[in-house]
Amino acid sequence: MKFTVPLAMVFGVLIAGCSNDSTKKDNRVDQLLSQMTLEEKVGQLNQYAVGPELTGPGEKTGQTKIRYDQLMSGQVGSVLNVLGAKNGREMQQQVVENTRLGIPLVFGYDVIHGYKTIFPIPLGESSSWDLGLMEATARVAAVETSAAGVQWTFAPMMDVGRDPRWGRVMEGAGEDTYLGAEIAKARVKGFQGGDLSSTNTIAACAKHFAGYGFSESGKDYNNVYIGQHMLLNTVIPPFKASAEVGVATFMNSFNDIDGIPSTANPYLLRDLLKGDWKYDGMVVSDWNSVGELIPHGVARSKYEAARMAINAGSDMDMEGAAFVENLKQLVEKGEVSMNVLDDAVRRVLTLKQRLGLLDDPYKYFDEAREAEQMMKKEHLDLARDAARKSIVLLKNEGNLLPLKANRIAVIGPLAKDKDTPIGNWRAAAEPNSAVSLFEGLTEGMPDVNFSYAEGCKLSIGPNNFVNELQIENSDRSGFAEAIRVARGAEVVIMNLGEPAYMSGEARSRSDIGLPGLQLELLKEIYKVNKNIVLVMMNGRPLTIEWEAENIPAIVEAWHLGSMAGHAIADVLSGRYNPSGKLTMSFPRSVGQIPVYYNHKMSGRPSTGPNMVFYTHHMDVDRGPRYPFGYGLSYSTFSYSPVVLSDSVKANGKSITAKVTVTNNSAVDGEEVVQLYIRDVVGSITRPVMELKGFQKTMISAGESKEFTFEITDELLSFYRLDFSFGTEPGDFEVFVGSSSANLQSARFTLK
Ligand code: GLC
Repeated sequence: MKFTVPLAMVFGVLIAGCSNDSTKKDNRVDQLLSQMTLEEKVGQLNQYAVGPELTGPGEKTGQTKIRYDQLMSGQVGSVLNVLGAKNGREMQQQVVENTRLGIPLVFGYDVIHGYKTIFPIPLGESSSWDLGLMEATARVAAVETSAAGVQWTFAPMMDVGRDPRWGRVMEGAGEDTYLGAEIAKARVKGFQGGDLSSTNTIAACAKHFAGYGFSESGKDYNNVYIGQHMLLNTVIPPFKASAEVGVATFMNSFNDIDGIPSTANPYLLRDLLKGDWKYDGMVVSDWNSVGELIPHGVARSKYEAARMAINAGSDMDMEGAAFVENLKQLVEKGEVSMNVLDDAVRRVLTLKQRLGLLDDPYKYFDEAREAEQMMKKEHLDLARDAARKSIVLLKNEGNLLPLKANRIAVIGPLAKDKDTPIGNWRAAAEPNSAVSLFEGLTEGMPDVNFSYAEGCKLSIGPNNFVNELQIENSDRSGFAEAIRVARGAEVVIMNLGEPAYMSGEARSRSDIGLPGLQLELLKEIYKVNKNIVLVMMNGRPLTIEWEAENIPAIVEAWHLGSMAGHAIADVLSGRYNPSGKLTMSFPRSVGQIPVYYNHKMSGRPSTGPNMVFYTHHMDVDRGPRYPFGYGLSYSTFSYSPVVLSDSVKANGKSITAKVTVTNNSAVDGEEVVQLYIRDVVGSITRPVMELKGFQKTMISAGESKEFTFEITDELLSFYRLDFSFGTEPGDFEVFVGSSSANLQSARFTLK
């Protein structure tokens, strides 16, 4: 029988000897470190997925004996995908009671947009531009997650993305750096709350560090070619902002940047993150991204991969078994210093200490609390509110919306689908647990006569994370019934889109139109009834040229989560006035990609009609179909000219931009007033404009409201030619408006 001194006893002694002083408390980590063998130190840096859910390539993990033996011999520091207070407690007990020092595990899981109560996919939720809301949904996700025995989520994903072919845009906050940083901070604060050791908060994870959103051609896991200025000015700010609000962990990314894989990039991890930013949290690899240094072609073996990754600053090896198999030898041979190893172990132990696990390894495993916390009414109410606010009204010709008709046909493969709205990265959601659109409509508008037809099928194969999707491309047998139903209706709601697993990880598309037979079905319905409201449920911007040209009303409803149907009905009925604004441009064609609002001028910007020698595609209208920041309301808003407090701004002083917005309609409505700034001449080329502020406010019918934005040096600063951060004197343009394409402007000079 192996003699073990359970951690509580070890720390019982230590605690008795420690004051309440937090600095002395930190010594506990160092004290523990000083007792650990080399093997035990290495074990803390090893993370395995245990349990039924695979979130990456590999055999069913958790069943292999070697992993179990490592778990029981202190060679595993963390597990992921272990769910449930009971399961977690049992595993924790085995580890704490069977290992020499009884160091507890930390349990991780991908809680991307909710645990059991599912909120809109992050790209959808970002369209709410409501930071308080996004903090609140992360808060609820943390309450449910921590009750289920998980202390660490691998979220928020904060990769700026400009390529909707990339399936993972659904996980992020769209194409803008400033908004992405604001949303990242809100979500980190929501997950972590004010006290990481509280049993209803969880550690967050800034991912994927860095550059993943620029995978070439939108193919997942692909190579990234961006320069240092773009890395620092476009990609890095959300991560830096997260570090500044105390995000507990980082996760590095699969991709390389110009030849250097992020998992083994000392500039990113040592110089920037742990050096310049003095980050004291822990960096976990992505799924086997240490081992993938071999296929990347920069390491010949797991031995070399382990050395490169830990020396570059990756602290924990997820699912790679590269650290656990090689670090002991690497240290003994002097290829990895004991200081580097100890620093990594200290960061892991500090995370466990911050979570309160070193005080009480079992504090998160309370089955009673788990039973009472899931899908509480207030959680579902918040999910409905978040869903409503995430909906973007793209078109409303003739004010077809809100609905006024009494005979309405609801047609499409998603209309009664209770699973697709949950989206990808659905954590522990019950299958088919969403409110479908048809349910939401019939419950929310009981006086209306709704008819229904599926029209066509969409996903006919496995609709899950691991298997390839199969889309229906030939069975038109449902068309006739759909056409019959459409003929008999005043208005037709067409509910079309993408299956849940057509976006998300490993779900890149080369054609981003409505998949399968859906557009064909829509055109057939259009032939018999032109009063169509297209409700789209999708995980990425789609190319919808024919739809945008012909369909009178278009509603972007993303994958809205548990309460999708009620939220959409709230908007279609007029109970809620839509307020969402796109955070990612909708291209007119795949050929336009990447198309985004904050592009550079180039040396040949268009200077007017009848000019051919300028940067454009000959065969498509300029600019996206729907731009960043765009979204309609049932209200109509008008903007006064922008008034600056001064036309000259001295460094160190701020000026203000004021605008008055009037709601000219009879409907109260929320407006997202957006501030953009352009640095006209810089030491490097600068974007035509950049979002630098926004205010979302309710403006009552007929009311005018004044909005003031303060313009500070911080807003004008960027990484300059020499990579120093700061401002440059010269002319600036200020834009204020309802989207990146509808703005009032003014100019000032920075002295
Ligand atoms: C996946 C994803 C990452 C996730 C991790 C654990 O491959 O890239 O975002 O957190 O593995 O599931």
